[in-house]
Amino acid sequence: MRFPISRLRRLRNNAVLRDMVAETRLSIKELIYPLFVHYGQGIRRPVESMPGVFQLSVDQLPGEIKEIDALGIPAVLLFGIPEHKDSRGSSAYSDDGVIQQAIKLIKDTCPHLQVITDVCMCEYTDHGHCGIINADGTVDNDATLELLALEALSHAKAGCDLVAPSDMMDGRIGFIRERLDEAGYSHVPIMSYAAKYASAFYGPFREAADSAPQFGDRRTHQMDPPNVREALREVYLDVEEGADIVMVKPALAYLDVIRAVKERFGMPTAAYNVSGEYAMIKAAAANGWIDEERVMMEVLTAIKRAGADLTITYFAKDAARLLNG
Ligand code: PBG
Repeated sequence: MRFPISRLRRLRNNAVLRDMVAETRLSIKELIYPLFVHYGQGIRRPVESMPGVFQLSVDQLPGEIKEIDALGIPAVLLFGIPEHKDSRGSSAYSDDGVIQQAIKLIKDTCPHLQVITDVCMCEYTDHGHCGIINADGTVDNDATLELLALEALSHAKAGCDLVAPSDMMDGRIGFIRERLDEAGYSHVPIMSYAAKYASAFYGPFREAADSAPQFGDRRTHQMDPPNVREALREVYLDVEEGADIVMVKPALAYLDVIRAVKERFGMPTAAYNVSGEYAMIKAAAANGWIDEERVMMEVLTAIKRAGADLTITYFAKDAARLLNG
C-alpha cells in the first residue's frame, strides 16, 4: 500500500502512541554496573576521565551497593586495584585480595545482587599485561591459563555468582571451566569476553583500573577491529568450551558484531559499553554540545536493538534513575 493510503507518520502522532508501538524497550534488569575496588580504607577517589565513576575501598562498598540495589540494578562487575603488583599478578588469586574481600562484603550486604568478577591479570601485574610475559614481550598463552584458573577459582571460593574472563587467551574458557568443576563449582556460570577487540576505547578504564601496559600493547591477543568472521570463531570456541553468556566488547563501534553473534548462536549475549564510550558522551555533555540523557538512552537502546540481552555500562545508575521515573 502506498501513499496517500499509507502514512507511517500516523503512529508517531503523540508520545503515548509512539511508546505503544516501540519495538525495543530498555529494562533495568538487563543492566550491569562496573565497580572499581581499591585497596586500603576510606577511599572514594573520582576517576578524572570518567565523571561520576569512583575507585572505592571495600569499606565504602555497602553504601554504594545499597544504592545500586535500590535502583533495581541486578548485577555488578568487579575490577580490583591491589596494593601489591608483581610479574605473576599474585594478588589476583590471593584469598584475601581486594576482590575476594569485596565479594564477601557485597554478598553479606545484599545476597541477591549478582556479583560478576572480571578475571584478568592486567590489574595485578607490575608490567600491566594480561598474563605472564615471554622474552619477546608477548603474553605466554598456556602459562597464563594456570593463573587465570587460580584467579577464577579464588573468586568462586569467595562466593561470586559469575566469573568473566577478559584476557583473550586461547582456550581459557575450557581451562577455567574444568578447574571450577573439579573444585566443586560446576554451578558457577562463565560470562566470557568472547569477542573482545584491541580497542582505543579502553583508554579511560586503564586510568580507573590502573592497568595500562608498561610497554607494547594487547594486539597479539585481543581481536583486530576489522574482523567479524573471526569474532564468530571466537564465540564458537567459547561456547564449545562452556561459556554460558558471550560478550562483545566494545559495543558502539561493534553493533554489527553483536547482531552477528546473536543471530548465529542465539546465546545470552552481553555487550560492554566501555569507558571511552562513556567518557565521550560525558565530555560532550559537559561542554553543552549534546543532551546527555537523550544520547545515553539512544545509545543503550541501539545496543539492545543490535541484539544485546545484557549491557555492562557505567550509565547503569543514571539509566535506572530515568527508567524508574
Ligand atoms: C581487563 C579489562 C579491560 C576492560 C575490561 N576488562 C581493559 C583492557 O582490556 O585493556 C575495559 C573496560 C572499559 O574500557 O570500560 N583486561
